[in-house]
Amino acid sequence: MIPFDQRTGKIWYDGGLVDWADAKLHVLSHGLHYASSIFEGVRVYGGEPFMLTEHISRLRGSARVLDFDLEYADETLHAATLQVVAEAGITEGYIRVNAWRGSEIIQTAALHTSVHTSVAAWELPAGYYAAADALDKGISLVIGRYRRPAPQYAPVKSKAAGNYMIGTVSKNEALRAGYDDALLLDDNGNFVEVTGAHLFFTRNGVLHTPTTRCTIDGITRACVLAIAEREGIECVVGDLAPSFAGEADGAFVCGTACEILPVARIEEHHYDLGGNEVIQKLISGYRDLTAGRSDVEVPNVWAS
Ligand SMILES: Cc1ncc(COP(=O)(O)O)c(C=O)c1O
Repeated sequence: MIPFDQRTGKIWYDGGLVDWADAKLHVLSHGLHYASSIFEGVRVYGGEPFMLTEHISRLRGSARVLDFDLEYADETLHAATLQVVAEAGITEGYIRVNAWRGSEIIQTAALHTSVHTSVAAWELPAGYYAAADALDKGISLVIGRYRRPAPQYAPVKSKAAGNYMIGTVSKNEALRAGYDDALLLDDNGNFVEVTGAHLFFTRNGVLHTPTTRCTIDGITRACVLAIAEREGIECVVGDLAPSFAGEADGAFVCGTACEILPVARIEEHHYDLGGNEVIQKLISGYRDLTAGRSDVEVPNVWAS
């Protein structure tokens, strides 16, 4: 794979398209030194960014949590994203929208800095965010080293770069130990999610998922909840202790990048993927939604 900084094409950067190689920031940027940096990942299906309005709403909310405002209106960011996707001729792809504080100040407090914004997109090769056979074989999970901080200890509702150090270290360790991802617990020792996706269990035809007290409110999670409601699948949202992995008859993770992936194993607990009708219905419902073949409505709870 070509490293991301060595590709070609156009990136929207602070108001207009620039050549890919010119989309640079200075090493003395507040966003780099103090993680005053947020992002969104958006999927493109059939040339259309999926749930773009919701992603832009969440980006704005993430900025507010980190005490800065985006430089551009939602409509401008929306148009910029469509422009980048069209310019690159992407059909099945992925978009990154980033915003970060600039270089006026290099100290913790940052009352008056510029805020930069970029939108980049690329065609997504199969298997980039999940192994190509993960949908059939399921993924394996291990409980990670770090816990997600409670909301009084970190800006957990912001899709902020700084929150991802927990995920990177935990997932690296999971991969080295032969698992596909790490499960993160909260301050009370209950399940929260995996490092870049939310977590669901099935038990006797009922869905169970943790609250989002210690993490972002997922857009795919909201899609899953809406599809479940349409399908008449009951869903219980609440605290789930790790022992629930042994009581469940199935599990899956869901996120923009990985979509819906069944879990084959959580440490010593194994799940039979074949007969899980709830998971199959949700996978096909999500596929219909992303393909524009569904009238399931997902409310934009991220809009202020
Ligand atoms: C930590 C974390 N949890 C969950 C998710 C899934 O959220 P979404 O469905 O909005 O992509 C993501 C990805 O954005 C994430 O980074």
